[in-house]
Amino acid sequence: MKRFIIPILAAAFLVVGSFLMVGDRPLAQTTSGMASGQEKTMPEVIILAKGAKQGQVTFNHVKHNSGAYNIAGPIACTECHHTAQPKSELAKYPDLKTDWPAGRKTTLTLELYKADPKGAGVAACRDCHARNGEKPKLIPEMPVIKDDRGTTLSVMTNQLAFHNACDACHFKISMNREDTKVPNATECWACHKKAS
Ligand code: HEC
Ligand code: HEC
Ligand code: HEC
Ligand code: HEC
Repeated sequence: MKRFIIPILAAAFLVVGSFLMVGDRPLAQTTSGMASGQEKTMPEVIILAKGAKQGQVTFNHVKHNSGAYNIAGPIACTECHHTAQPKSELAKYPDLKTDWPAGRKTTLTLELYKADPKGAGVAACRDCHARNGEKPKLIPEMPVIKDDRGTTLSVMTNQLAFHNACDACHFKISMNREDTKVPNATECWACHKKAS
């Protein structure tokens, strides 16, 4: 069953491929002590897409960031929280330029967060990637991404930002691992569940 879906997914992936977040960066970060005790205030399981027609999405944040789910090591915080690093780090990724809070000197890690949860500078994705038609809270305009040729501009709504961030990584894993439970991008119900 799985095998049939790959070509469809590959096509879908190519379409969005130009603005995928993990496309050209190392997937893994090696950090010592990642698996040990999580900060109490670190959200463990986050319900996303609350109120969406397709159904809400249960996202296990700690499994994704403690090394329980991994690529070739734990997943770096900045793999998802891309604004939580200084400009000097962002310079490595052609698509990324925005740091938040502006002028920050630190890169988000579990250690940084544990030492100073408030000062670590983590913002919710939705505060910038607002829903279609809504205004972002933290930045003046909705984030926009250019395709490879620099011709098409995509407005990164919450839907696009989350889908790209989540699917890019899952797709790579599904191509490289035989037995994986990563959701397939085309199987909406793998993530979106109607609340029972
Ligand atoms: C402080 C505002 C802010 C926050 C918070 C934020 N983003 Fe973004 N995001 C942006 C901006 C602005 C861009 C456009 C690129 C840039 O300026 O860095 C962007 C671009 C993206 C892209 C396209 C990147 C690429 O390589 O083409 C994805 C995917 C994305 N964000 C996902 C997320 C996810 C997931 C979260 C939460 C874990 C998040 N963003 C949090 C502002 C933000
Ligand atoms: C696989 C993606 C991913 C990784 C890796 C990740 N996070 Fe998150 N994180 C999220 C998402 C998605 C949210 C929910 C954002 C929202 O509500 O818009 C979130 C929310 C948070 C929040 C709550 C922010 C708020 O104000 O609501 C904190 C704090 C946080 N993450 C810290 C971390 C730290 C520290 C790491 C690294 C140890 C990390 N995250 C790694 C995706 C990720
Ligand atoms: C950098 C890589 C990466 C990113 C980004 C990522 N994931 Fe995952 N995800 C994984 C891995 C690894 C697994 C576990 C695969 C396995 O064990 O077979 C997984 C498994 C899952 C699963 C199935 C298991 C479960 O916990 O129910 C869901 C659902 C999921 N991810 C949702 C998300 C969502 C939603 C996002 C975006 C907010 C996201 N993921 C972003 C790597 C990632
Ligand atoms: C990897 C898990 C995952 C898969 C697979 C997935 N989505 Fe999503 N989707 C999300 C997340 C996470 C959000 C962002 C929710 C938020 O802003 O809180 C989202 C947001 C949306 C939204 C915007 C909802 C809103 O109320 O703002 C729509 C519409 C949507 N998805 C439709 C789909 C469809 C259609 C498919 C199948 C083709 C699909 N999704 C597959 C995780 C997924």
